[in-house]
Amino acid sequence: MTAPLIDGFGRRITYLRLSVTDRCDMRCTYCMSETMRFLPRDEVLDLEELARLGEVFIAGGVRRLRITGGEPLVRRDILGLFERLGRRIGDGLDELTLTTNGSRLAEFAEPLAASGVRRVNVSLDSLDGARFAAITRRGSLHRTLDGISAARAAGLAVRINTVALRGINDDEIDTLIGWCGGIGADLCLIETMPLGETGEDRSAHYLPLGELRARLERSWTLSEDGGACGGGPARYLRIAETGRRLGLITPMSHNFCASCNRVRISCTGRLYLCLGHEEGTDLRAALRSGADDAGLRALVDDALDRKPWRHDFAIGPALPPTLSRHMSLTGG
Ligand code: GTP
Ligand code: 5AD
Ligand code: SF4
Repeated sequence: MTAPLIDGFGRRITYLRLSVTDRCDMRCTYCMSETMRFLPRDEVLDLEELARLGEVFIAGGVRRLRITGGEPLVRRDILGLFERLGRRIGDGLDELTLTTNGSRLAEFAEPLAASGVRRVNVSLDSLDGARFAAITRRGSLHRTLDGISAARAAGLAVRINTVALRGINDDEIDTLIGWCGGIGADLCLIETMPLGETGEDRSAHYLPLGELRARLERSWTLSEDGGACGGGPARYLRIAETGRRLGLITPMSHNFCASCNRVRISCTGRLYLCLGHEEGTDLRAALRSGADDAGLRALVDDALDRKPWRHDFAIGPALPPTLSRHMSLTGG
């Protein structure tokens, strides 16, 4: 291992989110506009470049690596990356994971498991077919559900990610909790974040999770679940009735940045030190001009010195998105 990756505030970086594409086969209303334009392919890192960056971070002590998008499984050569990075599980990495919309999981679950993936986070905002179609614009509920079943059958632990949206799916959270209990999955609720223009007013549907939790406590017995898992921003509660966990991700109402352990790389090879800031470092230019691992690492260290202390999102009817960058570039 090379020297550990440490930011200017002394936070140790042990978690990398690596986005492999900005493309997606869905157009979720809170994420993209209907007419989203994607990047030309030559701007996106190839497999070799992605793997090399992954290796530089593993050498610096990253133990959890999450592949994100866009939708990672729309990338044709994606299994090659899982096979390659999967070899580092137990040899540097504790886990290699994936966040997906599930549309192609039925086809990929087994090969992903074979490459060493043990758990996946699957986005699912509704169990109602028409509502799912309205939120995702192009998604099909039964395909995502088939993907989730295939993941379970392949032995993958599944966490369902649901963006809680007032007036859109907040009447369904009880149903989702029961359903997740039935399939043996944890559920993670997420506050909508103001990243990228969507053509919609996100604030109209923003729901602080403290309010939602108070509502859920009328139906479920929720207790703090000490055992942190995943090393992510989710704070977990245990649901007595189902035995499963309920995660809460509250970037808007309750900031969790003090314990931040992560950085993200966009599919264009830009190192973002924080989801909530525009500043980044262009690692692709260095890769493509022949930088060696030490040169890449020097760039990373320099950037880490400037990792911001926290994000500061603002949401409101008259406010533009805090950041023009879409989440699909960095995978959240
Ligand atoms: P685990 O590794 O299972 O803990 O996953 P995770 O929650 O970190 O990852 P996932 O891709 O499932 O992301 C769930 C939500 O958390 C998404 O909306 C992400 O944008 C958000 N998220 C993840 N990391 C950060 C972060 O550092 N800051 C903020 N504001 N949001 C984040
Ligand atoms: N705010 C909050 N969560 C978002 N996601 C995508 N866009 C946003 C947003 N603007 C969620 C997806 C997926 C995860 C990676 O991030 O639903 O579950
Ligand atoms: Fe695609 Fe995920 Fe964005 Fe939905 S939230 S459009 S599934 S990248």
